Amino acid sequence: MRILSGIQPSGELHIGNYLGAIKNWIKLQNEKNECWFFVADYHSLTENYNPKEKSKEILNLATDLLALGLDPKKSTIFQQSQIESHANLAWIFNTLVRMSELERMTQYKDKASIQKENVNIGLFGYPILMAADILIYKADAVPVGEDQIQHLELTRDIAHRFNEKFGQTFPEPKSLLTETPRIMSLLDPTKKMSKSGGEKSYIALTDFPEIIQEKIKSAVSDTGGGKDKRGGENLLEIFNAFAETKNGQSEYSNYKRYHEEGTLKYAEFKPALAELISNYFADYRAKRAELLENPDFVKNVLTEGNKKTSAIAEATLQEVKQKLGLII
Ligand code: AMP
Ligand code: TRP
Repeated sequence: MRILSGIQPSGELHIGNYLGAIKNWIKLQNEKNECWFFVADYHSLTENYNPKEKSKEILNLATDLLALGLDPKKSTIFQQSQIESHANLAWIFNTLVRMSELERMTQYKDKASIQKENVNIGLFGYPILMAADILIYKADAVPVGEDQIQHLELTRDIAHRFNEKFGQTFPEPKSLLTETPRIMSLLDPTKKMSKSGGEKSYIALTDFPEIIQEKIKSAVSDTGGGKDKRGGENLLEIFNAFAETKNGQSEYSNYKRYHEEGTLKYAEFKPALAELISNYFADYRAKRAELLENPDFVKNVLTEGNKKTSAIAEATLQEVKQKLGLII
């Protein structure tokens, strides 16, 4: 299978990004698929940002992906803005999508309500650039978290529409989810974990063990006298995800049973969960520290990836232009 996915460089990664997407990227890469992963820097311009920080954010994200286990010998890792044909194809797709379809997008509505003073056209057209990112490589499958499923549906609609109008060109790519496609905020289990919820609502991959202990300690568990168990369920799900992938067997089933019976002792469970997360990312923290000493290596991975991808993307763009009658 040809796998493709991207992630925005907009600050630190959290365990939602890891459990919903990146963990799957590494698994798919190691199962010998043809993998393409990129830093979605053009997408990140749709949010408020500081241009002085942007290049550092791009490099940091690439560093994180390598430290987590993406391997440039197995996967192609590149930078979206350096492949000019993505935005060109997005322009063409703009003419195939109606405003009403974009107005329905949940992520657009959520982000527009957060950045009321900056509801820019890029934020509105975001899913179209995403469709171009995917279809330009004719990807078969896209590993993402649950919040991106709606964008993948639109991508398939665009592929279908294009094929009907101009002849078979694009496969209709499917989304690949992990068992934990939607990790919830530590402070509000009705909202998905996201940086916009504030520092205490998420665990960053770079958080030191003491910080993880503090954040898990203050995480919301069961509320309403134990009637609303969603906070506890979220913590258990996180425990299961890390325990399962690391040890095979885990104490998860015991904790889960206690939780169902209403006898789970959070004074024991919470420190155990925090320790599990800290240990899980110990290798990553060490590898990251090493890579930060060698930014040229990371830059070189992106430069090589950019070279590899641009010819393929350009070939698709030419094929599309041909089908549209633009080549004279
Ligand atoms: P973003 O940080 O929005 O660029 O997201 C990067 C990837 O992480 C996407 O595939 C998202 O679907 C995924 N993701 C983001 N937040 C969560 C979450 N709370 N739970 C699971 N996956 C998530
Ligand atoms: N929209 C994705 C996110 O916020 C990032 C992204 C951009 C992406 N282009 C993509 C993901 C193409 C998968 C495929 O997480």
